[in-house]
Amino acid sequence: MSARKTPAPQRIEQLKKLIQQHDYDYYVLDRPSIGDFEYDQLFAELQRLEAENPKLLTPDSPTQRVGGQALDEFEKVPHRRPMLSLANSYSVDEIRAFDERVRKFLERDAEVTYFCELKFDGLALELIYEDGALTGGLTRGDGTTGENVLSNVRTMRSVPLQLKGAKAPPLLEVRGEALMFKKDFARLNERQQEAGELTFATPRNAAAGAIRQLDPRVSARRPLRLFAYAPGETRGVKVNSQAEWLEYLREQGLPVLESAPWKKIKAQLAKGYKDGMPLAALCEGAEEAVEYYDAIMKVRHELPFDIDGVVIKINSFGLQDTLGTVARSPRWATAAKFPPEQSTTVIEDIIVQVGRTGALTPVAVMTPVRVGGVTVVNATLHNQSEIERKDIRIGDTVIVQRAGDVIPEVVSVVIEKRPSRTKKFHLPENCPVCGHKAVLPEGEVVTRCVNPLCPAILNESLKHFAGRRAMNIENLGDKIIEQMTKAELIRGFSDLYKLTVKDVLSLERQGEKSAQNIIDSIEHSRKVSLARFIYALGIRFVGEQTGKSLASHYKTLDAFLSTSEEALLEVPDIGPKVAASIVAQLKNREFLNEVKKLIKNGVDIEEIKPRKGSEHQPLKGVSIVITGTLPKPRDEIKDMILAMGGKTPGSVSKATNYVLAGDEAGSKLDKAQELGVQVLDWPAFEKLIQEP
Ligand code: IVH
Repeated sequence: MSARKTPAPQRIEQLKKLIQQHDYDYYVLDRPSIGDFEYDQLFAELQRLEAENPKLLTPDSPTQRVGGQALDEFEKVPHRRPMLSLANSYSVDEIRAFDERVRKFLERDAEVTYFCELKFDGLALELIYEDGALTGGLTRGDGTTGENVLSNVRTMRSVPLQLKGAKAPPLLEVRGEALMFKKDFARLNERQQEAGELTFATPRNAAAGAIRQLDPRVSARRPLRLFAYAPGETRGVKVNSQAEWLEYLREQGLPVLESAPWKKIKAQLAKGYKDGMPLAALCEGAEEAVEYYDAIMKVRHELPFDIDGVVIKINSFGLQDTLGTVARSPRWATAAKFPPEQSTTVIEDIIVQVGRTGALTPVAVMTPVRVGGVTVVNATLHNQSEIERKDIRIGDTVIVQRAGDVIPEVVSVVIEKRPSRTKKFHLPENCPVCGHKAVLPEGEVVTRCVNPLCPAILNESLKHFAGRRAMNIENLGDKIIEQMTKAELIRGFSDLYKLTVKDVLSLERQGEKSAQNIIDSIEHSRKVSLARFIYALGIRFVGEQTGKSLASHYKTLDAFLSTSEEALLEVPDIGPKVAASIVAQLKNREFLNEVKKLIKNGVDIEEIKPRKGSEHQPLKGVSIVITGTLPKPRDEIKDMILAMGGKTPGSVSKATNYVLAGDEAGSKLDKAQELGVQVLDWPAFEKLIQEP
């Protein structure tokens, strides 16, 4: 029967189903069932029918993936659960050490079952499905708050707009990685080149660019895919292990790695890697996980996409909860990274860069070389004593390596290839930018320019201050900062907040519109969290994570500014080196003045509010020991108890008021019974903490 005879409503439904099925076959199963031409015809027919019958157009139609308009910026949205990162291992010994820590924590001699996956080298995303419909797509952001990139996520044809399973859960948050397949990346770059547009250095860069595109129509032309791997907040989803979770996601139509017991994958790999074979493995104990790591490392370049290691997770969700997290990484998983990739090239010159702390860094300028899929020209040589230790000279052939996104470095010289005339390098005695005498403090290796007015230090500090993870002044690029300091429009951070459009227009090559954009984004940056603000100040050794720890400890800027070295050492994650550096900075009058001027010029720091529920303190002074597998992650339960005024010691004693025991509770439960401590199950605990 010809399609024309089918009434429009039925035909539209038919076409939607067909196209969804083809998208699924192509992007999820990687097994296309029809050709591009046929696909385009079905798509065009659906578009035509929908245009003729606008009432029949629904948001889950494949034609509606690209909708909406270009945005000015992405909306910031908090994650219901923080998106954590993984602790890294770099060798098989570190994998074994991870396994030992896990078993010690669990007080367990028997082998643990690990679920081993690929570590995708893409961009983490969170998808949110409510009652089966895709309603959210967030980037990881800083882990606590992400950016709403839903309109771009909707253009990814591997992402179902509607879940497939028989019964849709009320809430399904799923995390995964957006990435570009190598073949799609190559084609995209060809296209870009033909169109005279910029090409991308790596599939990861191209994927990140596509996700952060403000115009979804551009995003739609970038061939992005997704692999789902981790749960966020869920309601109505009952799974007990990572293997079951991935199986559940597959049933819902989400793309996941196929899994099998390691022994089976091992046997298949012995015959060589084949596209479509299972690549996630259930491993019994550390030795199987080590085998998996070694085997995947050998075939990594044959995979259709980039990976930078494997992820080893404890399979049981119950055990995962028992292990909990430490310093924003779960104890139950490790990212086993592959060693960096290396190449050889020639050092043509050595130049000196001045960083924001005044450090003079020698940088090698090399004959361009491909390392791990990208072309590199510069590599850091760190400092003079490193150059001497490795005996690196201009003209030498060297081994360079790059690991992930970090700056490439020179590992060693290939002495056999040293030409007869090489040139030794010495750091200059004066700062190459301002000419001030550079200083190498006794016992240190880094030579620094100590001129507080050095333009290089000012420029680099301002670039850091304005950076995406600091004050996030979007339109204030490096070049403009350099122009502004050169014209002496700004001499410190606080001057930024006094700039006018007229000031910016006085710079060369500045138009009305871009000047306005710059002022708007400065304006926009005024409201900032305490954590970002502290990080933006650029205190030595105070990175993003330290900024967060300081902010959540001190809560207000004044409290932080008036702290002492002793008090700082009480803050989690802060050691003596960092504390000393902070105190030195807080004693610096110029620095303090600058901070005061920032506030005076209108920077508005968001105060940290007391935790919700802290007025309701039914557990004041009560001590509760937690054991076994409970309906919520252990860290979350601990936080609840702390917020309600209670304590959660690690072991049971006579002073313990209650033991909260879940399934498979162990020795702590025995101890409670022995000491006559009252035992609560989950419902009894919920009753205990109920609002009056
Ligand atoms: S699980 C608690 N599984 O690695 C962390 N992450 O440092 C849950 N990643 O931001 C993440 N492949 O972008 C997980 N198979 C995989 C992964 C994976 C890549 C990335 C992810 C995350 C980072 C963790």
